[in-house]
Amino acid sequence: MSDFVNGFWGYFISIVAVGGVVWCVWLLYTQRRWLKTKPANGQVEDTGHVWDGDLTELNNPVPGWWTWMYLLACAFALGYLFFMPGLGSYKGQLGYSSANEVAQQQAKMAEAVRPIYARFETMTVPQIAADPGAREIGQRLFLNTCSQCHGSDAKGGPSFPNLTDSDWLHGGSPEAIMQTITHGRIGVMPPWKAAIDPKTAGDIAQYVRSLSGLTADPVRVFRGKREFANFCVACHGVDGKGNQALGAPNLTDDVWLYGSSEATIVKTILDGRENRMPAHGDILTPEQIKILTAWVWGLSNKPDAQPQPASAAASAN
Ligand code: HEC
Ligand code: HEC
Repeated sequence: MSDFVNGFWGYFISIVAVGGVVWCVWLLYTQRRWLKTKPANGQVEDTGHVWDGDLTELNNPVPGWWTWMYLLACAFALGYLFFMPGLGSYKGQLGYSSANEVAQQQAKMAEAVRPIYARFETMTVPQIAADPGAREIGQRLFLNTCSQCHGSDAKGGPSFPNLTDSDWLHGGSPEAIMQTITHGRIGVMPPWKAAIDPKTAGDIAQYVRSLSGLTADPVRVFRGKREFANFCVACHGVDGKGNQALGAPNLTDDVWLYGSSEATIVKTILDGRENRMPAHGDILTPEQIKILTAWVWGLSNKPDAQPQPASAAASAN
């Protein structure tokens, strides 16, 4: 597949590439007067420029070896363009592509590490989480692929969830975490600007703050509670404890994706939020996803506290 947005650019590049070579040969041809070897009379012309009274500039012909190098370079260029991709969307006789080369190297690499991952194939996620070797692999995978968003300590930041706190938007079971990593997640809180005025939004924010035991004005909390029942319970639940099937956060645990100030909550209510965890199913292999799942799961579950089947170590081999 070619990367050009339309056919024109393929032709444009071909014309520039071939035209460049043709122009070089034409230039040599039209300048052939200078290619003549030594003049018959042995007398070399000068350009007529004179410095310091007697310093002249000779107009020596270009040496023969130079001419041949020049022509060889042009021939090489044409040969290269014939065998390798260089003329727009023409793929070249050898069919080389850097994308294929990367894919081959990746396949080789995957083959080389397969035995390392094979050990974990029959293990459960809690067992992998308890395995020191797997934890090291998991941490490296996390630092490479996940830390730019969730932080190198996995504690997240504004809009990026903390993965170490047992508080889950989408669920903390091994299956839910694996689903999150493989297919990604989208968290959408709809904007309420059209239905809720800023003052009412402030009242609701006071009520939301009170759910987590933060300081709030009782009168506004009372008014906000009524509006919360109208607009918010469908997703966040009657008790405000959220709904993992919708990715709607628990609003009662004082854990905040965006912040707990009235202004931040009002902004969330009026403007909504849209948050995306990208899918990694195409970037990571299933074996890598399993190890990452175990690593993330192990951040908020004590693997050692899990009942370990006696055969765990034996079945690992
Ligand atoms: C481009 C940024 C980005 C990258 C890279 C990223 N994540 Fe996420 N992740 C997010 C966002 C944003 C959310 C929250 C989605 C939401 O609000 O519903 C999230 C959510 C999650 C959740 C769900 C948390 C919960 O409370 O349910 C898990 C688990 C997770 N990520 C793990 C990972 C792992 C493991 C990786 C590396 C393979 C990774 N993430 C890479 C941005 C990212
Ligand atoms: C359609 C479902 C839905 C409705 C209705 C809804 N929310 Fe949300 N809300 C969500 C989702 C999903 C998120 C998470 C967004 C994300 O992942 O970034 C969220 C996030 C939030 C947050 C951010 C929490 C944090 O940790 O920072 C607050 C606060 C909030 N909602 C309050 C409300 C209030 C108040 C209402 C009623 C006016 C409301 N929501 C109505 C789905 C909903």
